[in-house]
Amino acid sequence: MAIDQSFLDELTARSDIVDVVSRYVSLKKSGSNYFGLCPFHNEKSPSFSVSQDKQIFHCFGCGVGGGVLSFIMRAEGLEFHDAVSFLAKQNGMTVPESNYDPKAGKRRERLFELMRDTARFYYSELWKPENAKVQQYFARRGLTKKTMNRFGLGFAPDSFFATMDAMHEKGYTKEELLACGLVAKSEKGNLYDKFRNRVMFPIFDLRGNVIAFGGRVMDDSKPKYLNSPETAIFHKSRNLFAIEQARKTKNNYFILAEGYMDVIALHQAGFDSAVASLGTSLTEEQARLLARYTQNIIISYDADNAGQAASQRAIDILKKAGLNVRVLKIPNAKDPDEFIKEKGSDAFRRLIEKSADDIAYKLDIIAAKFDLEEDQDRISFLKESAYMLSFIDSDIEREIYTSRAAAMANISIDSMMVEVKKAIQKREHNLQKQQKREVRAAAQKAQPKDKSLKYDNIISARAEEGILSIIFGDNSLVSYLNGKISPDNFTSPILRAFFIYALELYENGKNITIPAFEGHFKPDALSLLATITSRPIPSMRKKALDDYIYKINECSLKSDDTTTQSDPLLAKAKMKKEKIFGGNRL
Ligand code: UTP
Ligand code: MN
Repeated sequence: MAIDQSFLDELTARSDIVDVVSRYVSLKKSGSNYFGLCPFHNEKSPSFSVSQDKQIFHCFGCGVGGGVLSFIMRAEGLEFHDAVSFLAKQNGMTVPESNYDPKAGKRRERLFELMRDTARFYYSELWKPENAKVQQYFARRGLTKKTMNRFGLGFAPDSFFATMDAMHEKGYTKEELLACGLVAKSEKGNLYDKFRNRVMFPIFDLRGNVIAFGGRVMDDSKPKYLNSPETAIFHKSRNLFAIEQARKTKNNYFILAEGYMDVIALHQAGFDSAVASLGTSLTEEQARLLARYTQNIIISYDADNAGQAASQRAIDILKKAGLNVRVLKIPNAKDPDEFIKEKGSDAFRRLIEKSADDIAYKLDIIAAKFDLEEDQDRISFLKESAYMLSFIDSDIEREIYTSRAAAMANISIDSMMVEVKKAIQKREHNLQKQQKREVRAAAQKAQPKDKSLKYDNIISARAEEGILSIIFGDNSLVSYLNGKISPDNFTSPILRAFFIYALELYENGKNITIPAFEGHFKPDALSLLATITSRPIPSMRKKALDDYIYKINECSLKSDDTTTQSDPLLAKAKMKKEKIFGGNRL
């Protein structure tokens, strides 16, 4: 532990978990807890709970949980120390300098500096007179110098070591260059620059750090774009290209495009809320990131089939994150970049105005598959669109689109309604069946989510969990356990570690709470602890403790039985092992 515990105590005491979580999730009070939609998995009915008394959050759906710092770590995608700084800043507190984890913090800072210096190097290369052809490439693509500077564009020289040498000169090590994915290793073990003879697009995180690069060839060679690999500072699925610029927009909508060039052309044309997912299909994390800054998304993917298929997937992911979605269609051009270059920004603004909402767009896609003059095709259209419409939650909305679909196929509204109702019933029926299956499976499982935390002896572990949940609920009962049970009796290593730490807190006169565990245990372990301590505790606590202790002892007797007495072979093997390893050397 590098951060001073009393500072952490002060910080968590000042950051009420309900206040903090409310900035991300809309919470409603129900009984003594608050409930909302889990920000860490997609769900329609709230299973995410926050307890003000215990200062913990816990999701009954996906099992994550912990205290306020665990919440920030997950919600902001931060490491523990960064989460501490983040929360401290919001409270106007400064993390005591000497206590900041020097290793982890400094190393990340070094990698950020290396990436920034590399971006500066690429930038200076671009503007060298001998690289006029590169400047011309960008000019040909219609980018102004201002735009290029705004996005920090650059050029990686046509060399296997120019970047590496320049960074060595600045004092960065080979290991740091590798860790940032700026160099690669040949089969012989030699390092060489990964990006060569490419125009370079830096990727920034929300704090303005350079975390990755995309590099494009200037001709038709392959691969067209080369991107930084996943590194300690770059997680593709969690970032969006240009999010740092776009978050400052005044628009009440964001434009989601496919490529770097599309986003840059859009910004240059005045659409300053354009972003792109990073060369992959949109992820749920990216959708949630968008939902922090806007309610409305206009998808503006490429006009080709791949782009349209990607739009359909993106719609579903964005809707799940609670966003309103419209889809823009680009006539007679490959992508937004080409369209704007040919037709100008006013024409693009008209496309935005004409963009269809997600349902209308989906209806159009379905209709395009059929010849609605043909009876058989009309029936197929009816079935397929009814299924799609059955997913609409709002009655009014569903009715509006149902009549639109009916009109498209020239079918009476009534028969279209009947078809949609049938589809809804069928789906509900299937859903119920599935839910029953899930409840059964969950009851059977009842194990920590993380494999490494799995229980070997479930019966004993349940009792160990029970003891933990009671002492969390009533710290004074620790003294009742004195002499009755020790950590050694715990079969699950993680539960034992919780117990030991709880005893330590108690002995030091501290409260046994989840916030006090943060920073001492990994996020998955804290989730488990939050699950355990969110369970209701029995009213007759001492009696329950006695029962749990009895169970644990019973289990340990049984397991001694099976290893030493009832199975002579095993007993022999065990003795042999003890001899070979000499007992205490293990
Ligand atoms: P596109 O091929 O549509 O590129 O790929 P683009 O953005 O329109 O680029 P220009 O106009 O040809 O310069 C869309 C995005 O997919 C990723 C990149 O992020 C690109 O911007 N991509 C594409 C790759 O990562 N690698 C590739 O080889 C191609
Ligand atoms: Mn393009």
